[in-house]
Amino acid sequence: MMLREGFFVKVRPALLSIACVTGSLSSIKAAAALPPPRESAELAAQYDAVSTPQWIQGRKLISLLSIQPGDSVLDLGCGTGRLAQYVAKLVGPQGTVLGIDPSVHRIAIAKRRETAGLSFQVAGSDNLASFASASFDRVYLNYVFHWIDNKEETLRQIHRILKPGGRIGISTGYRNQPSRVRERIRESIREVLGEVPPDLFLSPFRMTRKELRALAEQAGFRIVDLQILPFSDYAKDPEEVIAFLSASSSGRFLSGVDEPSRERILSVLKRKLRKLQTNRGIQMEHPAMLLVGEKPR
Ligand SMILES: C[S@@+](CC[C@H](N)C(=O)[O-])C[C@H]1O[C@@H](n2cnc3c(N)ncnc32)[C@H](O)[C@@H]1O
Repeated sequence: MMLREGFFVKVRPALLSIACVTGSLSSIKAAAALPPPRESAELAAQYDAVSTPQWIQGRKLISLLSIQPGDSVLDLGCGTGRLAQYVAKLVGPQGTVLGIDPSVHRIAIAKRRETAGLSFQVAGSDNLASFASASFDRVYLNYVFHWIDNKEETLRQIHRILKPGGRIGISTGYRNQPSRVRERIRESIREVLGEVPPDLFLSPFRMTRKELRALAEQAGFRIVDLQILPFSDYAKDPEEVIAFLSASSSGRFLSGVDEPSRERILSVLKRKLRKLQTNRGIQMEHPAMLLVGEKPR
């Protein structure tokens, strides 16, 4: 697609389908593709440094999971392992925490956090079939579920590997969540490209509360808790906002546009973000949808 001033937007093919729930999981509609991750050692280190919002929301999720000393826990999509390290203290020396993530770079950082009961492996939602049935007391996904293509199969596998009475915890963004920063991103793209191409990936947050509930129930979980937790924090400056967006999306942020367009969009975006600057920094909203489900005994 050719756009204003000769810039090309590379629109990626639609690969991903998500369940679209209207009362029940009755229809599956195609959604815009998630571009592939563009991970690097540098980006993984950046994620470790800027992931405090996920860390704060993650501890809230963990507080809802009633993790006990001696529990066996799986952190699916553990990133650089900060939250798993926290959970390892809760399960104590009799318990175990395994963190898995498809990014070799993130796991390389996580491995520096390993202790007797805390270990990490390169693996993802596609590898859950390799775990024995009824082997975990708790499985959680902190800001990971929106990146997973096959959500139904992933939930089915988690249900299988949990012990009866075991719990799943999910924190994820939700469709149409408020975000002034994302509004500025859209404005910046429109200013440079003349439009916001419909297939340009801007946010992975596509589910509603109703859809998440239906998916978890369909996999066999009893819903223990489902809530929206408001949360916002402050980035120091526009550069820190962009670092957060890039690292949190594993390099997908604006990866669908060519490099000259991306540079121009970022320059417009920085100008717009500077207008949001306050004494505390630039406010970033990160409300999370938190779900806790139980596998019936
Ligand atoms: C925003 S980070 C969250 C990391 C970590 N849970 C935390 O709280 O900091 C999203 C993570 O999901 C991982 N991820 C992406 N697709 C995945 C999949 N299919 N299965 C498991 N993890 C995945 C990414 O590599 C990335 O580390």
